[in-house]
Amino acid sequence: MENIWILFVTAIFLSIIILFRNRFRLKSKDRHQLPSGTFGWPFIGETIEFVSCAYSDRPESFMDKRRHMYGKVFTSHIFGKPTIVSIDAEVSKFVLQSDARVFVPSYPKSLTELMGKSSILLINGSLQRRIHGLIGAFFKSQQLKDQITRDMQTYVQESMSNWKEDHPIYIQDETKNIAFQVLVKALISLDPGEEMEFLRKQFQEFISGLMSLPINIPGSRLYQSLQAKKKMVKLVQKTIQAKRASGISMVPNDVVDVLLNDANEKLTDDLIADNMIDMMIPGEDSVPVLMTLAIKYLSECPAALQQLTEENMKLKKLKEQLGEPLCWSDYLSLPFTQTVITETLRMGNIITGVMRKAVKDVAIKGNLIPKGWCVFAYFRSVHLDESNYDWPHQFNPWRWQDKDMSSCNFTPFGGGQRLCPGLDLARLETSIFLHHFVTQFRWVTEEDTIVHFPTVKMKRRMPIWIKRRGEP
Ligand code: HEM
Repeated sequence: MENIWILFVTAIFLSIIILFRNRFRLKSKDRHQLPSGTFGWPFIGETIEFVSCAYSDRPESFMDKRRHMYGKVFTSHIFGKPTIVSIDAEVSKFVLQSDARVFVPSYPKSLTELMGKSSILLINGSLQRRIHGLIGAFFKSQQLKDQITRDMQTYVQESMSNWKEDHPIYIQDETKNIAFQVLVKALISLDPGEEMEFLRKQFQEFISGLMSLPINIPGSRLYQSLQAKKKMVKLVQKTIQAKRASGISMVPNDVVDVLLNDANEKLTDDLIADNMIDMMIPGEDSVPVLMTLAIKYLSECPAALQQLTEENMKLKKLKEQLGEPLCWSDYLSLPFTQTVITETLRMGNIITGVMRKAVKDVAIKGNLIPKGWCVFAYFRSVHLDESNYDWPHQFNPWRWQDKDMSSCNFTPFGGGQRLCPGLDLARLETSIFLHHFVTQFRWVTEEDTIVHFPTVKMKRRMPIWIKRRGEP
């Protein structure tokens, strides 16, 4: 009798626990709601306000206004899609870390048309991971860093030796020219010359259609861009055929070699050629903008410029005494130069954020992101949030001294499976450029401002007047 009684009480006790747990679970699921916000006007949503803020000198003002009304995660309707905007570091991190079972990349239609279905920027799953891993490993390899350092030094010296003191130098153009040469060399081993110029011209034609209307008929912007891409792909295919004919080098010299050497049968010549052009999209503009912005911020912060110059002069003199050329580890070992680059990335927000589409209902931090909706993880607001960084609008490279970057909600290169594979390359190139620039020149800048949309750049291409050091 006593046993039955114990069993009875235990059963009731367990039932109460299960009931409570279920109630709690139900409640906690219910608690995930569509974030508050507005959809704006029919069809256009809030795109006009978003774009007009993006063109201003405070592009984050669109987010700031809504953050005060709705919090750090809110709904909106931009670029024709219902979108959940996140300026919450934790939610954005979750978006970046999720794989293709949860979120897939979402780009404007014109961009997806130009890139094609097999572009690394669009594909998901095992093929994306494979290509990403191969490229990332190659860009990290000592051999490529040695080669990039040698090439970059040559290109920088060639460019700088032509600079005249009685003409303004347009830093944005100069850095663009140098970075394009480095990129094309790393991708397909093409040296400066006629073919490089052809590629540069076609690439400009190609990217001018990235933000165009998605209408592909003869004469339209998109059509012309696609024609330009075809011409570029043909050139890359010629390179691939030449490599195949002469036997592919087992020690890869460029990204094409890396992909040709891989046994994966999905990596066809067409896919490789297409991807070489697509990889120029994230690589071509971002690095020169990083270099240009570093020069801009340094010009406005004499204390940082002085410390950076001293550090680089010291290295230059040491290497001259030793009679050794500079190698990549020399550049990356300059601690203050690295903090300048990090702070430029934080303030400059060259890639303001990433767009993803939810492939299923997603619940995160009390927010529901419905299947099919877009999420815009907007890094700029996180990087300029005073709860993350004191005086966030002040250029202060010293803030990074002895700081662990991984704990700062700092994602200029994204994160997770799509973390930028070119990040080491971008830092190395910028370090080399800064070294040669500050050790050879003094300069004064002309008035210029940053434009933030559709991509970050200087309005007047950053004109400066130089004086060679050591000259009166
Ligand atoms: C300052 C320079 C750069 C910045 C700020 C930058 C930023 C980024 C960001 C934020 C992403 C993530 C996009 C996403 O999650 O959807 C990304 C991806 C990527 N970046 Fe960079 N990038 C830079 C330079 C480069 C360079 C030099 C290359 C070399 C080719 C490159 C190649 C790529 C590629 C291929 C991806 C796509 C990776 C994937 O989806 O698997 N980037 N970059």
